[in-house]
Amino acid sequence: MNQHLQNILNLIKQDHQFSDEQKNNLYDSIKKVEKEIEIISFKLDRTEKVKRTTAILLEETIEELEQKRKAVEETNTALEKSMEELKAAQNQLIHSEKMASLGELTAGIAHEIQNPLNFVNNFSEVSVDLIDELNEEADTGNTEEIKAIAVDLKQNLEKIVHHGKRASGIVKGMLEHSRAGSGEKTPTDLNALADEYLRLAYHGLRAKEKSFNADFKLEADPDLPKVNVVPQDIGRVLLNLINNAFFAVSEKAKKNPDGYKPQVIVSTSISPLEGGQRGVLIRVRDNGPGIPEEIKDKIFQPFFTTKPTGQGTGLGLSLSYDIITKGHGGTIKVESGTGEGTTITIQIPVKN
Ligand SMILES: Nc1ncnc2c1ncn2[C@@H]1O[C@H](COP(=O)(O)OP(=O)(O)OP(=O)(O)O)[C@@H](O)[C@H]1O
Ligand SMILES: [Mg+2]
Repeated sequence: MNQHLQNILNLIKQDHQFSDEQKNNLYDSIKKVEKEIEIISFKLDRTEKVKRTTAILLEETIEELEQKRKAVEETNTALEKSMEELKAAQNQLIHSEKMASLGELTAGIAHEIQNPLNFVNNFSEVSVDLIDELNEEADTGNTEEIKAIAVDLKQNLEKIVHHGKRASGIVKGMLEHSRAGSGEKTPTDLNALADEYLRLAYHGLRAKEKSFNADFKLEADPDLPKVNVVPQDIGRVLLNLINNAFFAVSEKAKKNPDGYKPQVIVSTSISPLEGGQRGVLIRVRDNGPGIPEEIKDKIFQPFFTTKPTGQGTGLGLSLSYDIITKGHGGTIKVESGTGEGTTITIQIPVKN
């Protein structure tokens, strides 16, 4: 028995003031207290054991967690590295696609440069003849005629400069198109850009495939405001959409030799106010075979193509999607029914 309780018990035993009954009651109470103390100390003991086990478990868990944290850290570093590699690969891919589309453009560019070059050549030849005339008139001292020829010569030279500049502009556009890295946004006349790329795409295709023919036109909204865009990026999107459209109509034309008139129409307009913001719409519409329902949600995926091997990378629409949405905060939508042709509409916010 607990020593203190024993002392109390002894004192009670020796005390003559208590009756036997009272003493018995006090013994019982002391016995009960002793029992309770035993239970409490047993419980305390158990709690102590639980505490120790929990502490051990906690330590193990902390160690495990630390190991897991390290593993996560390692995975993160590995992930970051793969992300960087992926980004580098993607940039490389975008650059290759740029170069490939430059290849698609060359025939069109050659055609477009030939035009101003013809003017330059013609006006230069005429001017050489005019100088001969000028010399003849100088010999006879006919100042009136000399002056008239000088006016003509000046006009010719102005035309030569004008067409020379046009050719430089085309070459400049070509260089911008092929430049790697992100271009700068600048207020751009999208009507002019659409016109340029529509003609480049058409003449490019014609140069590759002599039998190819299609009606094409630009329905330009004359009130279109200038929009802040990266012109060479939007140019690539347009080239892609227009090439897709020409490809689609030429495929349909091959299957329907008679009575089918391939047609590609590019139109521009201002979209109605939406969420406090105006946007410019560019639509590329063709009367080709249309896009089957079952592939409609795949066409924006990278590398998805239905073109024969070697003819398409399947990157056109996926890159266009990124340029329009991520690059310019716009949207790109497809409407197409099998047999009804396809309309792709891009919307670019006027202020972005
Ligand atoms: N105007 C269209 N008419 C019918 N199908 C289209 C049209 N535009 C796109 N598609 C479909 O979407 C697919 C993906 O187009 P995308 O421009 O991404 O790649 P691609 O044209 O096949 O290849 P690339 O652009 O590299 O030449 C095409 O292969 C075609 O099946
Ligand atoms: Mg394409």
